[in-house]
Amino acid sequence: MPAASDRDPSTGIDPLSSETRTFPPSSDFVEHAVARPWLYEEAARDRLAFWRARAEVLSWATPFTEVLDWSEAPFAKWFADGELNAAYNAVDRHVEAGHGDQVALLAEYEDGSDASYTYAQVKDEISRLANVLTDLGVSTGDRVAIYMPMIPEAVFAMLACARIGAPHSVVFGGFSADALRSRIEDAEAKAVITADGQFRRGRALPLKPAVDEALATGAPSVQKVLVVRRTGGDVAWTEGRDVWWHEARESASTEHQPVPVPAEHPLFILYTSGTTGKPKGIVHSTGGYLTQAAYTHRVVFDLKPAADVYWCTADVGWITGHSYVVYGPMVNRTTQVIYEGTPDTPHQGRWWEIIEKYGVTQFYSSPTAIRTAMKWGEDIPGKYDLSSLRLLGSVGESINPEAWMWYRRVIGGDRCPIVDTWWQTETGAIMISPLPGITSTKPGSAQVPLPGISAEVLNDTGEPVGDGEGGYLALTEPWPSMLRGIWGDPQRYRDTYWSRFPGRYFAGDGARKDEDGDIWLLGRVDDVMNVSGHRLSTTEIESALVSHEWVAEAAVVGASDETTGQAVVAFVILRSGTEQAVEEAGGEEGAIEVLRQHVGREIGPIAKPKRILLVTELPKTRSGKIMRRLLRDVAENREVGDTQTLADSSVMDLIQQGMTGRR
Ligand code: WTA
Repeated sequence: MPAASDRDPSTGIDPLSSETRTFPPSSDFVEHAVARPWLYEEAARDRLAFWRARAEVLSWATPFTEVLDWSEAPFAKWFADGELNAAYNAVDRHVEAGHGDQVALLAEYEDGSDASYTYAQVKDEISRLANVLTDLGVSTGDRVAIYMPMIPEAVFAMLACARIGAPHSVVFGGFSADALRSRIEDAEAKAVITADGQFRRGRALPLKPAVDEALATGAPSVQKVLVVRRTGGDVAWTEGRDVWWHEARESASTEHQPVPVPAEHPLFILYTSGTTGKPKGIVHSTGGYLTQAAYTHRVVFDLKPAADVYWCTADVGWITGHSYVVYGPMVNRTTQVIYEGTPDTPHQGRWWEIIEKYGVTQFYSSPTAIRTAMKWGEDIPGKYDLSSLRLLGSVGESINPEAWMWYRRVIGGDRCPIVDTWWQTETGAIMISPLPGITSTKPGSAQVPLPGISAEVLNDTGEPVGDGEGGYLALTEPWPSMLRGIWGDPQRYRDTYWSRFPGRYFAGDGARKDEDGDIWLLGRVDDVMNVSGHRLSTTEIESALVSHEWVAEAAVVGASDETTGQAVVAFVILRSGTEQAVEEAGGEEGAIEVLRQHVGREIGPIAKPKRILLVTELPKTRSGKIMRRLLRDVAENREVGDTQTLADSSVMDLIQQGMTGRR
């Protein structure tokens, strides 16, 4: 199992000493409780029959006969001989069933203006856009990159791709031109859908220039760029390549037949950070993914179509936005809020104001957001009527018991159950979570695998640990929304997930089982950091730093941070001969700022190190491996641990002296 000193539990949770109190299932969920407990039994009795029933909730153009084909493990096929269309399931069938007038999206813009779209309107929009994409030469199987702000058009873009069976690759709008280009190149996208700009903190920020830059320096596969006008103003235009969305939309028909695709047809690729510098293109299927996204959304959030107003604050650039803004909720005919802006624009009560405005019933957000709201003070949410809420969710990192209790009391009025949901880009959907009305909840623990899911905590040799022990989290049976691989790299897929414990999926998270057998997540055990619930790779940031001409060597660690879970801290050795350049940049402080900006440009603002320490040496083992554990001790102001394996044990003294000398 991971030794405490080797690992960096991002949250600092110690499950044994933390809050042992539990909260019994809320009686407001009686209906849910009556309806759902048999799920556990049904899944335990016959797992495949259980998943068959969940898949049959979808509309299939061709019904499937076989549930799972695991003969080519670890490459799974679920419902493989069935055919369906994801956009038809998310939109058309609700309209056909007479629910066309139900509101699908309540779009709240940063400036307080809003718009709403019914399911019938969404159907028209995505049909038009599907026709536009087809006219632009995009066909079934072609990849389309989407680089958009959090506006309804982003959802339409994804669903229009799904409608024609063109896998989308959404790239978070905060990523740089370089990051965008490498993702477009890896997937060989044929088209890009973007916007002229986006509103952030009251300002119009350009977005399309990053696309122009990405395409000017590479990505030759791209033939067309479709541009939503959001901020207005001048934009550079490449004739023959760039097309305005609103102009193309005008003449496009609202008649469009969704294209049925085989269940295993890739619905999307989503890039996520791994332990090497190159992001992984996680591939998700259509049938299995949709089955589990819809099922988990329904049971974990106790979703009641037409009655609820659901809000998940995630951006569509992340997996949570895919599964719990677009696909899960829409397949379940949810009415939901989507919000363009930041939580503190124009004031720190913005989110709570939105909950009051729309009467939000389920709210799904991240521990970082909760801790930030705690810091701002409870009198801010206290000004708003939050009584419409009946359930709260958390995702992205462990939620520390203190934040959990605050969330429950201040936002949930001591009334709403909290679902702490553990899952990953790779799992596609929620895997471990309490169920409202059924599970007695425990602050800080994600607790139990959902019905149909098999998870274990394993020790170093791959044996399940007993209650009260810790180890590595593994998933021991295939699940419908599991990743189907890494785009273009089957070997990396095997190596990353299936080689540590053969036959079982290695999640990369440390975990512990408490005396009741409940699971507590303890943070990553690999070189992946978790900053504000966003995954960042230490090596990716190191490569970005080293790509700067001043930098000879860099080592990056994730250090515990009160608000963001972890923060990026970099140790950098400058090249000799850079003294003058550093002087001109304003000395060390100036140079550090230059390097931070450089990382922002290379990857995106979220990857900018919070601290950069200029050092003359890095601690290395005799085989030349950087000992990040020691650097983490320094970054977290702890006494430096065991230095015996260092090639030169005086290095740590140098680093620490250097730091104290400089501060
Ligand atoms: C972490 C986000 C503790 C974990 C959906 C995982 C969590 C990584 C939780 C995946 C949780 C996510 N408790 N840790 N409830 N949810 N994580 O791919 O380390 O962006 O491996 O997917 O986030 O991050 P990803």
